[in-house]
Amino acid sequence: MKGVILAGGLGTRLYPLTKVTNKHLLPVYNKPMIYYPIETIVKTGIQELLIVTGGNDAGHFLRLLGNGKEFGLRRINYTYQQGEGGIADALSLAELFCGGEKLCVVLGDNIIEKDVIHAAQAFERQEKGAKLLLKEIPDPKRFGVPVFEGDRIIRIEEKPKRPRSRYAVTGIYFYDSRVFEIIRTLKPSGRGELEITDVNNAYIERGEMTWEVLDGWWTDAGTLDSLLLAGDLVSGKGGSHST
Ligand code: G1P
Repeated sequence: MKGVILAGGLGTRLYPLTKVTNKHLLPVYNKPMIYYPIETIVKTGIQELLIVTGGNDAGHFLRLLGNGKEFGLRRINYTYQQGEGGIADALSLAELFCGGEKLCVVLGDNIIEKDVIHAAQAFERQEKGAKLLLKEIPDPKRFGVPVFEGDRIIRIEEKPKRPRSRYAVTGIYFYDSRVFEIIRTLKPSGRGELEITDVNNAYIERGEMTWEVLDGWWTDAGTLDSLLLAGDLVSGKGGSHST
């Protein structure tokens, strides 16, 4: 299995912090944000990582992370997303790198307390399809939210006004290499982007989606409040869940 971190976008929800740098290079307590998803991937035993970046400061990733040796990676590959095509568009750039293997995809602003080793091992054994990691939080409406029938997910709703469950879909995904065929079938959403939720719904429709609940706290760091919470959680100074 190979790792992909999606670290593009303009980070407009964090303006003006992101006016002169990429969101994923901002500090979360004592490290740049992107260190956390890298560590999540390294802990699973993955050795080959691709970082998809974009915007004006792509060169800074290379300066910060180099060849990845410091993290125990065999190598880090870099690629560049032109424009604001969305998460699934960024992932489409990983097709050559993937080379037919399974992928662990982590959004560059997702930070977790523990690890996803159990899920990664379960996905290695899964014959095909995809796997999601969910987290129960008080008000998941700013995330992807699963709709359940029994313990089966029947669809994911992206940022629903009235969430149909108390779970958020975290930004840690496992996919087989057919994800690229699925991305090619997507149409841009209302906000003009190829949505990762549409990728996940395609796997759900095929009956090839599994899921697990993530252990320990989880947050993204893509808004001012969640960036603050992330720092508190990492430093051990407070908070217990995502906002
Ligand atoms: C994205 C996904 C959403 C997911 C979230 C996790 O949202 O679209 O389904 O729950 O990441 O961080 P965005 O950060 O683009 O609003």
